[in-house]
Amino acid sequence: MRRPVIAGNWKMHKLIAEAIQTVVHLKPLVAQVTHCEIVVAPPFTALWAVAQQLEGSNIMIAAQDVCDVNGFGARTGEISALMLRDAGCEYVIIGHSERRQFYGETDELVRRKIGAALEAGLKPIVCVGETLEERDAGRAEAVVTRQVEAALSGLSPGEVSRLLIAYEPVWAIGTGRTASPAQAQAMHACIRQRVASLLGQEVADGLRILYGGSIRPDNIRPLMAEPDIDGALVGGASLDPQSFSEIVQYR
Ligand code: 13P
Repeated sequence: MRRPVIAGNWKMHKLIAEAIQTVVHLKPLVAQVTHCEIVVAPPFTALWAVAQQLEGSNIMIAAQDVCDVNGFGARTGEISALMLRDAGCEYVIIGHSERRQFYGETDELVRRKIGAALEAGLKPIVCVGETLEERDAGRAEAVVTRQVEAALSGLSPGEVSRLLIAYEPVWAIGTGRTASPAQAQAMHACIRQRVASLLGQEVADGLRILYGGSIRPDNIRPLMAEPDIDGALVGGASLDPQSFSEIVQYR
């Protein structure tokens, strides 16, 4: 059985004091939740402070990016997977469309970052998704399949079993225009099928595929009811502890 994951990506929001305040409010709101894993992804600067607050709670921490080289070295401005583990992270978001779009991240770089994260024992949440132009041109499945294949290339079944995929159609991110449950389900099924043909049915059946893009408390339920949607990666609606806790308690 795939344990659902509800993750909040805070993106470039919150100073340290506000980040602490957010999780202090969130903790009691979700303390009784056992049906899913709960993850928050603060900016780098707040990771350690948030980790201190969440010790012993049922909320885990993700970073929003990671260096493609693990350990230590001459990589000015970068943060390694080892450092993220040290700061309290269990997960790391990799290849978010905002990084692909604004910082030129390629499929190859994303693949290297996945390798570095796995090496350090972090669980990658690998983001894939097509633009509106690509969808309108009928290329959505081809684009997403390419991203998935590149992300998983050369990984062993054991390694793939430690990562998650997040399908985030670019046209649904921050637009208020969420994919319909049927659209999301179709793409999730396509991803799972591709993984099955690459790595076998068992790996595919165990793979958690999250949906992201304009998720709110009032649209999470039908998405989570779809058989191949195993969780959510929430942006804007995760910034407020009340709305994020309602999303976490989708059932
Ligand atoms: P929104 O929920 O704000 O659309 O953002 C989605 C997202 O990019 C999560 O990673």
